[in-house]
Amino acid sequence: MSVVDRAMRSLATLESRLIVGSVHAIRGLTIVVDRLRVPVGSLVEIETAMGTAMGEVIGFEGPRSLAMLFGSSAGVSPGSPVRAKSLTATVAVGTSWLGRVLDALGRPIDNGPPIDDLENCALEPPTMNPLRRGIITDPLPTGVRAIDGLLTVGRGQRLGIFAGPGVGKSTLMASIARGTAADVVVIGLVGERGREVKEFLEHTLGPEGRRKACVVTATGDDSPLLRVRAAAAAIAAAEYFRDQGKHVLLMLDSITRLAQAQRQIGLAAGEQPATKGYTPSVFALLPRLLERAGPVEAKGGERAGSITAFYTVLVEGDDLTEPIADAVKGILDGHIVLSRKIAARGHYPAIDVLDSISRVAENITDANHRMARREMIRLLAAYRESEELITIGAYAQGSSPEVDTSIALRPQILQYLQQDRSEVTPYPQSLRSLIEIAVASQGMRQRSAPQRSAQPAPQPQRAAQQPQRAAPQPAAGQKGR
Ligand SMILES: Nc1ncnc2c1ncn2[C@@H]1O[C@H](COP(=O)(O)OP(=O)(O)OP(=O)(O)O)[C@@H](O)[C@H]1O
Ligand SMILES: [Mg+2]
Repeated sequence: MSVVDRAMRSLATLESRLIVGSVHAIRGLTIVVDRLRVPVGSLVEIETAMGTAMGEVIGFEGPRSLAMLFGSSAGVSPGSPVRAKSLTATVAVGTSWLGRVLDALGRPIDNGPPIDDLENCALEPPTMNPLRRGIITDPLPTGVRAIDGLLTVGRGQRLGIFAGPGVGKSTLMASIARGTAADVVVIGLVGERGREVKEFLEHTLGPEGRRKACVVTATGDDSPLLRVRAAAAAIAAAEYFRDQGKHVLLMLDSITRLAQAQRQIGLAAGEQPATKGYTPSVFALLPRLLERAGPVEAKGGERAGSITAFYTVLVEGDDLTEPIADAVKGILDGHIVLSRKIAARGHYPAIDVLDSISRVAENITDANHRMARREMIRLLAAYRESEELITIGAYAQGSSPEVDTSIALRPQILQYLQQDRSEVTPYPQSLRSLIEIAVASQGMRQRSAPQRSAQPAPQPQRAAQQPQRAAPQPAAGQKGR
């Protein structure tokens, strides 16, 4: 940003301080303010009997503005002065953010040194020229085998992690944050439990994960305004690093809690609830925020960079058609579904590979990788189709070469898909192991094909009468799925 830009922005901040209104009424969560003619999104300060309280303008009604406070409204009285603090919704971001934990207003909350060399970034910048958007051509390794091998993520891709409560969304996100090859990781923790934030930083992310990461957080007990701001600030920070030519990994946990926060704001501003109680502004906000991720090309002095995004979505009762999941899915180029059934077997990460999809995987992988992916997916599908028979011991070996192979290779497949949360597998190694399984599978199927043509096909009835326990017992800790 130029010196003139900087000066203009500080002038705007100074000027805004001269606009002072007064509290007319409090209605639920909103404060009705007289004579405060400022745009929606402006930050305001209210002088209360207990000090100053900060808030944001969320709407207006005729000549009066509607503001919502970031904290409690205790101490606000009729006529309390309301001063405009900033007329634009911005957050001050800088490279000094790396390794730090910040609140929704960009203030460090980790007792570290002050942050400096900051640049004001718009929380909602104008939409990018579509011609600057690049195309996804390269993979972005995550360190998680099941993802790198089977659901390969591209630089600039937008993915959702969908799961019911407690199935492992946050843990998977943290594993990716630690194992990723991205230059910078920006993590937005929106509406998380306060305890989880500390646990996430200290245990899950660890010191090496934190070095190239910054965390913006607003917990569940913060005002809904701060929760929405935290998400917007995380995205603005990701854009700041992208514009420096970095490949950024953006993670937002969770979109559901972001949507719930926006619903609270919408209802307070007088919106009517629509689908399942969510207000129309929720469905307007989601694409505006989430579509800002993606690759950008170098153009007109701007550098190329990318924002690859993972957004977690809580699906109640594992229902992928609930309105928020549905709205988010429409914005994404892929989704990773975590299954409670798989997690219940102690299989982590509990990724349901067959229900998940990376829409760019085919375009960013080489021929060997594509062959191996297809082979593995074929094995997983064959096993799932006959799983019930296999589990009760009613599957007759020889009925299908694909199922036979999937049973024989089951231990290797499970070993590939299961991964400890702290284990990072380098991308070439994930690829090598996947190709080994695929080659073994093709060999087995080819060997069984001539035998099958020489033998009469097995009779399903005989198979049911003479059940064989064909499934090999997985190694300890690798329960069948
Ligand atoms: N990779 C893993 N290895 C071992 N255990 C795991 C793993 N992932 C998740 N778990 C278990 O599942 C629990 C819930 O995980 P996590 O908090 O990541 O779920 P979540 O989907 O984010 O939950 P919520 O919906 O409440 O935010 C963890 O406390 C842990 O016991
Ligand atoms: Mg979680």
